[in-house]
Amino acid sequence: MGINALSKNDPSSFSNTEEVVIRHAHISWLVDFKKQTLAGSVRLTFEKVIDSVSKVVLDIKDIDVKKVTFDEQTLEFQKSPTVRTFGESLTISLPKNVPKTFNVIIQYESSPKAQALQWLSPEQTAGKTHPYMFSQCQSIHCRTIMPCQDTPYVKFTYSAEVDADAELTVLLSGVSTGTPEDIPGRTTLRRHKFEQKVTIPSYLLAIVVAKISFRTISPRVNVWAEEQIVEAAAWEFGQAEEQLKIAEEICGPYEWGRYDLLILPPSFGYGGMENPCINFITPTCVVGDRTHAVAAIAHEASHSWTGNSVGIKNYEHFWLNEGWTMFVQRKIESKLFGEKYRHFSAILGLHEMRNVVNDSKHPEIETNLVKNLAGIDPEDVYNNVPYEKGHTLLFYLETLLGGPEMFDPFVKSYCQHFKGKAITTDDFKAYLYKSFASKKDVLDSVDWQTWFFGLGMPPVIPDYDKTLSEQCTILVQKWLKCPEAEIDTLKSSPGFKDLSPLQQREYFDQLGLSDEIISIKKLEELDEWYNMKTLRDTEVKFRWLRLCIRAQWEAKIGEAIEFATIQGRMKFVRPLFRSMYDWPAARDRAVEAFKAHRGEYMYITAHQVALDLQLDS
Ligand code: BES
Ligand code: ZN
Repeated sequence: MGINALSKNDPSSFSNTEEVVIRHAHISWLVDFKKQTLAGSVRLTFEKVIDSVSKVVLDIKDIDVKKVTFDEQTLEFQKSPTVRTFGESLTISLPKNVPKTFNVIIQYESSPKAQALQWLSPEQTAGKTHPYMFSQCQSIHCRTIMPCQDTPYVKFTYSAEVDADAELTVLLSGVSTGTPEDIPGRTTLRRHKFEQKVTIPSYLLAIVVAKISFRTISPRVNVWAEEQIVEAAAWEFGQAEEQLKIAEEICGPYEWGRYDLLILPPSFGYGGMENPCINFITPTCVVGDRTHAVAAIAHEASHSWTGNSVGIKNYEHFWLNEGWTMFVQRKIESKLFGEKYRHFSAILGLHEMRNVVNDSKHPEIETNLVKNLAGIDPEDVYNNVPYEKGHTLLFYLETLLGGPEMFDPFVKSYCQHFKGKAITTDDFKAYLYKSFASKKDVLDSVDWQTWFFGLGMPPVIPDYDKTLSEQCTILVQKWLKCPEAEIDTLKSSPGFKDLSPLQQREYFDQLGLSDEIISIKKLEELDEWYNMKTLRDTEVKFRWLRLCIRAQWEAKIGEAIEFATIQGRMKFVRPLFRSMYDWPAARDRAVEAFKAHRGEYMYITAHQVALDLQLDS
């Protein structure tokens, strides 16, 4: 095996997990805002898989390894040359006859470039007085803050001691053990201790250090945010406990102890991240109607089972995380708002997927469910296909196997059966066949090959209830068909403002997906009539601006740029920049705006947009 050979179990990792695996990590960090580093050590507890193991191969990227010890004995280590996006392997030679379970301590310091971390200056926060740091380890960024087997194939427990500025709060993706302590001789710092007793993959390690406060929702739920928005956030996420209980009815008992929520600054690049014990959520959910908050909790809380408990062997099977989570999310939404809502949400999801499929420049790797990721960064193929094609497959199976009555018990038993494991698509399929042994013929009728490996839209679109989407279709047709001279006749009710927030999204999706291009004149009328500038719902606003840009309405370039720079959700930022890049009249302004704001985005957002704008390679 050459030094650059990637892992047998995971094409995104260098680690020799077939020989040895991490069981526990004990982390000691000093958070240094001036240097923008984490400095300290990690004590890794390994278990041998094969007795003859002579080395440990770990993943690192931009990490300065200072010293490696075993039983106070210094060990030799070697870093490989850097491999694009994957970083380096760190090979540690083991002494002869190490026991079955053994500890290795690695002293190291992360780099200010560490891709997992975003360091915000006080000016970039709502409070303006203190700096803010948060992490995002998924998919393969944990290796930039800790040498580890950076693969979901390996799960470990962890404990941590983190020293940080005494004025700041520190939270990790575990449970705090005791109040922060003073450190003798270091009066500006305090020490915080944490523990995660449930085994997790490396991508679920998370940290936030910031001036934040909390409001209590229930004995196990606190909402954390900067003081300026914590009240509003606590209201928005006020149903978290009820939702968690519904999730437990669907999936089984919640095993992580606490379920806290952290509302991040606007540069957070995702809608949410399922960090255990403390889900990270975008502030764009805080709009005052709970619509997005409920969806975000339904989604991220569901990951507590699908993803965080039932894990994946590697990112080729990422759809098992996200497709299953969409399925459970929509089950929760069905219990809250009814089955029609669940169906409507699925229709909306497929329309968004159609947008992504239409825009895809590499459909052969971007639109299949099960991937081959040899040499490919999982994030370069990240989009909503695993979410929506995955959801569609599960919904199709539910219908085929006799509806919720038959499928609900399977959902629960799937979560229990694979609890704590890291599985593949084949494991899922085999368990499905086992659970529905009497329906083998039905299952054999499924075109698995096309579902798993086919490109583009799902091979079967379920017959979803269309009540809620048809109301949008009627309005869309009215606007598309109406002669421009008669536009005033469209301004009667029911109109756009009478649609629910989800329907408003669907309305713009349908306008955008239609073969007929809506004229700029009509867009102008819509804008004036409904005062689109005042839209607060970012999901709706994004679709409106995407429509305007695709229609090449020049007056809207400024608004689109503003929207793509005041918040950093990749799902909004990337398509807007891409559409502007594809349109010569907008290209230069878009590139210029991105360059001016590049430093404010999270690493991954900046990186992906730079690729889209052909600034990086
Ligand atoms: N785990 C994902 C976010 C993610 C995926 C981060 C891949 C890094 C790499 C999270 O659970 C998610 O799906 N977030 C959604 C939110 C949603 C569906 C409510 C998002 O960000 O859009
Ligand atoms: Zn998710």
